[in-house]
Amino acid sequence: MKKFYIETFGCQMNAHDSEKVTGTLLARGYSQVEEPESADLVLYNTCSIRDKAEQKVFHRLQQFKRDAGKGKVFGVLGCVAQQEGERIFDRAPHVSLVAGSASYTRLPELLVQLESGARRVTGLSLDTEETFETPFARRDNPHRAYITIIEGCDKSCAYCVVPFTRGPERSRPAAGVLAEARALVRDGYTEIQLLGQNVNSYRDPSPSGWDFARLLRAVGEIDGLRRVRFTTSHPRDFVKDIVDAIEDNPILCNHVHLPVQSGSSAVLERMRRLYTRPDYLRRIEWMKSSRRPIAITTDIIVGFPGETEQEFDETLSLLNSVEYDSLFSFKYSPRPNTSAAALDNPLDETEKGRRLTVLQELQRAIQIRLNSRLVGSVEECLVEGYNQATGQWIGRTTQNRTLNFTHPALPAPSAGASLAGSYLPVRVTRSGPNSLAGEACVESTAA
Ligand code: 5AD
Ligand code: SF4
Repeated sequence: MKKFYIETFGCQMNAHDSEKVTGTLLARGYSQVEEPESADLVLYNTCSIRDKAEQKVFHRLQQFKRDAGKGKVFGVLGCVAQQEGERIFDRAPHVSLVAGSASYTRLPELLVQLESGARRVTGLSLDTEETFETPFARRDNPHRAYITIIEGCDKSCAYCVVPFTRGPERSRPAAGVLAEARALVRDGYTEIQLLGQNVNSYRDPSPSGWDFARLLRAVGEIDGLRRVRFTTSHPRDFVKDIVDAIEDNPILCNHVHLPVQSGSSAVLERMRRLYTRPDYLRRIEWMKSSRRPIAITTDIIVGFPGETEQEFDETLSLLNSVEYDSLFSFKYSPRPNTSAAALDNPLDETEKGRRLTVLQELQRAIQIRLNSRLVGSVEECLVEGYNQATGQWIGRTTQNRTLNFTHPALPAPSAGASLAGSYLPVRVTRSGPNSLAGEACVESTAA
């Protein structure tokens, strides 16, 4: 039996693509191994969002180069594959397979070509053919499942490779999304995360024409589901209906990830983000004034070309006024094909690094403050597992916070007894910048 190894870089979309690839390979009789050394087929599912992410895969490819002659086959999948195409063969001649994310449905056919001795095969078309309904996906997490609802992106943010790596926007028919969600519930999943580069511009291609809020409501009504999340939202297309849907349905989680990128309207314009700071703050206000305590997270890019000190200060002031529950922050990285790559006034790496540190220190202080307010409250957690090193169970709250906790009746997993997958009330007793700690609320059973 042939053995494969797969390593994934990048976002949840990529993580889920790898699950689809894994399912496809298992269905073809391959078995999965945890070490590239023992694999016949080594796959890297790659990310090209920033230069650093892209370089990682080329480092990996160098590590095992010598094994290529010994019958090991190497494949590059995902965003670097789509972006670099056949140039990958020049840079890493031992690679035999290069396939972008729109070509995974063709993977069985590409594998047949490889199995019958083809030296190099590629799947690089970005045709808008159906790519959602892969019959197989081997999900990594037994409780939470990803479902793709929309692929690609039709925006043209000046810094972003996604339109090139994932192609134009295509929404998946709502009937397919709902059927997959119901099947997952039957298989025991209790949390679903709807995925897309821009879930807000979802539009059911079938005659119903549902928008994202309508789809969200329908998924939220599925019996047996406990939690529904979605990512990623684009502020321009984020409408009040989405907040209303969350208000109306308790299983829609108290969390919205709304990437802002910059707090300066001038920078947003240069980034071609299609909204201003006031537009963005209006959306924040919908959430802040909601009956539900909606956690808000974001992505920030520092050091976009020409970003002045004052423009950077506007991002800091936005952090102070929104008080994000958490955020991802990045130094701007020029990317091939993007319009920003040609902009004047690039900032040097040292200055970008300085701004990143300033921003992260401010955010750390905000998170310490926000998390400390939760001490004493009781949060429902989905138990994800157990941390042997700390002796704590690992829980996740509806607001997507990590809450590590002890449980008096089950201090550690034992034969046949684990809390993983259950939902438990946990009292928060301590807080830090990145997580909470607490104790499970166990009803007193005094004799
Ligand atoms: N440089 C730095 N960060 C980037 N991102 C996207 N493109 C770039 C780039 N060229 C960030 C954005 C996006 C997140 C997924 O990655 O913040 O929301
Ligand atoms: Fe990276 Fe974007 Fe591709 Fe995700 S879609 S893997 S973030 S380049």
